[in-house]
Amino acid sequence: MTLNLSGVKTGPLKAGERVTLTDNKGRRKSLLLKDGAVWHTTKGAVQHDDLIGGPDGVTVKSAGGMEYLALRPLLHDYMVAMPRDAAVIYPKEAAQIVMWGDMFPGARVLEAGVGSGALSLALLRAIGPEGRLHSYERREQFAEVAQRNVREFVGGDHPSWTVTVGDLVEVISDEEIDRAILDMLAPWECIDAVGERLIPGGVLVCYVATATQLGRVADTIRAHGGFTEPTLTETTMRDWHAEGLAIRPGHGTSSHTGFLAITRRLAPGQRAPMRRRRPAPGAYGPDYTGPRPANIPADLGGAGATFDQAVDDAPTPEVSTED
Ligand SMILES: C[S@@+](CC[C@H](N)C(=O)[O-])C[C@H]1O[C@@H](n2cnc3c(N)ncnc32)[C@H](O)[C@@H]1O
Repeated sequence: MTLNLSGVKTGPLKAGERVTLTDNKGRRKSLLLKDGAVWHTTKGAVQHDDLIGGPDGVTVKSAGGMEYLALRPLLHDYMVAMPRDAAVIYPKEAAQIVMWGDMFPGARVLEAGVGSGALSLALLRAIGPEGRLHSYERREQFAEVAQRNVREFVGGDHPSWTVTVGDLVEVISDEEIDRAILDMLAPWECIDAVGERLIPGGVLVCYVATATQLGRVADTIRAHGGFTEPTLTETTMRDWHAEGLAIRPGHGTSSHTGFLAITRRLAPGQRAPMRRRRPAPGAYGPDYTGPRPANIPADLGGAGATFDQAVDDAPTPEVSTED
């Protein structure tokens, strides 16, 4: 059997497939279709056989007359509904990662950690059968959940996907990569290892949940010296209600999920031109103990320090000749 690697199914609904039923109040129920099976609702039974053989988007009635619309789940539906042991990257960030991380068909992509495999699914779809996704996960149990989730969505083992169990820094392979995504508690620990394998111009995206992590990863990227100034973003998605003259923001606006730090690898031995922007007062002052960008002198930030003077006096950062 040839696998449809996108996970998209078309044609009549079949036994063994999952569909989502929605009633007239917007309540949803996910059903795994089975020949002869019955779903019992407060409004009477729904026969699976009334759905099997019908088209995607068909409606059925329960014995008590309640109408349901049946649709196959899309990738974003599946990502948030699939079994998980670790928190998943939500579709709104996965969409950003695919665009700002510049995923393309045929790309060689590194991902760590795998968690439940939600982002892996989005990446696999973007890179297609010609691409290669190498995902790393340090917890074997999570890797197994992710593999099951991807297998269920795609319908088998995805030939473009390799999962390696272990800590990324310890087990990372030597292969060259075009794009990298880090979604883990301490991505700053992996910046060096990823930087060594990322092609010049390659894109690194770090997803972090908290502002403290965002600051740490941004300063680690700057201190590395071989990356561009990171772009730091948060994505909110606001739904709207529009009926006749009642047009207003809806109630389903997504709350905070995470931040993205996006950066590009420089050519071997190159350093990005240092920003001469003055950091906020105290940004790198005496209380700051994190990674320090090369153009920020250690004594900057005390009262009376002038930024331009301090930067002019700072030693020129060493240029790494290794890649
Ligand atoms: C939030 S989950 C990833 C969720 C995943 N992106 C998804 O969409 O389903 C973070 C995962 O990173 C793994 N992890 C943390 N540090 C790691 C490391 N250094 N190497 C490999 N995996 C790591 C954790 O075990 C955890 O499963």
